[in-house]
Amino acid sequence: MKGLFDLSGYVTIVTGAAGGLGSEMVKALAAQGSDIVALDLVEPPFATEIEKDFNVKCLPVACDITKQDEIRAAVDNIIKKFGKIDALVNNAGLYGGLTMKPFQDITVEEWDKVFSINVKGTWQMTSAVVPYLKEKGGSIVNISSCSILQGVPLLCHYVASKGAVWAMTRTMANELGQYKIRVNSITPGYTLTQASMQLAGSPEDFNKNYQRNINDRSIQRGMMPNDVVGTVVFLVSDASAFITGQNINVDGGSVHY
Ligand SMILES: NC(=O)c1ccc[n+]([C@@H]2O[C@H](COP(=O)([O-])OP(=O)(O)OC[C@H]3O[C@@H](n4cnc5c(N)ncnc54)[C@H](O)[C@@H]3O)[C@@H](O)[C@H]2O)c1
Repeated sequence: MKGLFDLSGYVTIVTGAAGGLGSEMVKALAAQGSDIVALDLVEPPFATEIEKDFNVKCLPVACDITKQDEIRAAVDNIIKKFGKIDALVNNAGLYGGLTMKPFQDITVEEWDKVFSINVKGTWQMTSAVVPYLKEKGGSIVNISSCSILQGVPLLCHYVASKGAVWAMTRTMANELGQYKIRVNSITPGYTLTQASMQLAGSPEDFNKNYQRNINDRSIQRGMMPNDVVGTVVFLVSDASAFITGQNINVDGGSVHY
């Protein structure tokens, strides 16, 4: 009998696959037997390693999710290689490259860039993949952020964009349930990645934010990319077959909602 979390025979796309969280998601999904499409702005370099370590296929794809022509070409390429798609993890996002500032000081250009990637990109990527998921059902996992529950200050554009990802998840779930496509989101807490360090601006500010987040948690330790991946595997797999339109908050209990 196939295990509840067994993903053998699946083809799963992970966007933002080269990043701190994305690269760990790729490993966790491959470890359950899923073939992987590792999509990012430039081809992630680890495809051969993933194929060797986990005995699955891994297709690296360069694609900017804000550009519809690039998404179309990427999906054509994926279908040519695998003939189907079973799951999409919308993890790509603009986060580390941002500067923290009061919301009144955010420029229109910064605001639009965040929404273009985090909201429009997620919507466009999902729209392009849905026709293939409709063939026999599937799972979409959107990576939002615990910052939307915490109301994190000085990142209004980012927090608003991740709130939109959460809201979009429920509407998409309602529209796609009839095709046996499930759509859920995850709100990860403040996680140790290069992007979090870049966002903080200095090692001192990073340490301050990191420690404050630890103090706020029921489980008082730092959060690592590996803390998120089990929930991704769960939501992609049949173990969550009757869960849709939901958010799972993975943050060690800094917010109880
Ligand atoms: N690290 C955290 O503390 C944290 C917490 C909550 C949510 N998140 C979210 O998790 C996701 C991953 O975060 P991370 O810390 O690994 O950041 P990261 O910057 O390492 O990863 C993001 C990836 O997305 C890719 N990307 C950006 N724009 C893209 C585009 N237009 N098209 C395709 N790919 C694009 C980047 O190249 C990068 O590899 C993001 O959506 C982030 O907002 C992170």
